[in-house]
Amino acid sequence: MREIGIGLVSLGWMGRLHASSYQRLPSRFPELGIRPRLVVAADPIQENQQAATEQFGFERAAPGIEEVLADPAVDVVSICSPNFLHRDFAVAAARAGKPFWIEKPMGVSAAQSREIHDAAAAARDGAGIATAVGFNYRHAPAIAHLREMIAQGRLGRITNVRCWLIADYASSPDSPLTWRYDRDKGGSGVIGDLLSHGADLVQHVTGQRLTEVTATSDVFIPERPIPTKLGVGHGGFEIGNERGPVRNEDWVAALGTLSHGAHATLESSRVARGHRSDYALEVFGTEGSARWSFTRMNEFEVMIGEGGTEHGYTTVLAAPGHGDYARFQPGPGIPMSFDDLKTIEAAAFLSDATRGTHLAPSTADGLAAAEVCEAIMRSAASRSWQQVAQV
Ligand SMILES: NC(=O)c1ccc[n+]([C@@H]2O[C@H](COP(=O)([O-])OP(=O)(O)OC[C@H]3O[C@@H](n4cnc5c(N)ncnc54)[C@H](O)[C@@H]3O)[C@@H](O)[C@H]2O)c1
Repeated sequence: MREIGIGLVSLGWMGRLHASSYQRLPSRFPELGIRPRLVVAADPIQENQQAATEQFGFERAAPGIEEVLADPAVDVVSICSPNFLHRDFAVAAARAGKPFWIEKPMGVSAAQSREIHDAAAAARDGAGIATAVGFNYRHAPAIAHLREMIAQGRLGRITNVRCWLIADYASSPDSPLTWRYDRDKGGSGVIGDLLSHGADLVQHVTGQRLTEVTATSDVFIPERPIPTKLGVGHGGFEIGNERGPVRNEDWVAALGTLSHGAHATLESSRVARGHRSDYALEVFGTEGSARWSFTRMNEFEVMIGEGGTEHGYTTVLAAPGHGDYARFQPGPGIPMSFDDLKTIEAAAFLSDATRGTHLAPSTADGLAAAEVCEAIMRSAASRSWQQVAQV
């Protein structure tokens, strides 16, 4: 087993998940021959530093990324910070020559995403470093299988795609005004937060790029209470009576054109009451259609051909043969979890970093999704179709 030293910055929701994903890797992907060694985790909050060593098994904890990048035992870095820190942290990791796995959205704007992508390409005197971006829904076995079916032409020529990522994590007007609602810190709100996953999914599954978009967006809850105690992810916060302005989008809907001429509709909301984490993709072709929803992550539905009097979708449960399913469950129809998708991403990242494979969504994919989000924002502001800058 080859030991790979892990440095991690920001031990919030995603930081904790990256840490546990590395730990599960040797048992799920033994053929990689990698034993991740959790060297150092950085977070300014003392409680999180303590959790890093006591709960997650890091050898030590530090307040800032500097100590992570300076440690020669750190071979690769996980960047799980709020969006506004992504650019500085990723560029610093690239300058230190350390491959990084960064959460989405990759920066608060397409310009920041490009800086990150360019820094990764220029690292190690121009040789470049391996990178991974947190587009975890790609790794659902059902999605991996749908992508394969589409590449094999089983749905015929792809005509149109519908994708939505609709959640209610911010539907209460009393949910706290965290960094997520600030344009400088969170970027474009739900566009970067959820629609970036959708832009990536549509492009990944169809093998086509979105080339132009038209969109509209809105803020439905313009003020929220300022937190008096920080939490993790969306939970654990305490609030006071003081409120402040929401400075980025709650909801967005977009139409797009794909590079081979297919059409796409994309919608995202963080304030859709009743929709907990409703993330779904439907792909239509001349020979059939298929659909998947994260709410039923372990299955997909497919309809190919005419179907006669039994015309309708067949539900297919995830099974060995679909993506990486067999690494997690020995037989068909046994549910996998969200966390498993991150283990698959960790394996892809460390394979790319140590073997030169190209398995993980990279900074090129992070930038491609960011350019879609940026064109959507330009379109919503100008009420016109906008070209998507191509990577
Ligand atoms: N891939 C996914 O599905 C997914 C899901 C949730 C979040 N995310 C992304 O992960 C990132 C983090 O989100 P989260 O929900 O884990 O956030 P979080 O609020 O739970 O955690 C953020 C952490 O950053 C730490 N932090 C703040 N300032 C710091 C600094 N200067 N240096 C180091 N650490 C600092 C905080 O102490 C906190 O522990 C975001 O970019 C978010 O978009 C991705």
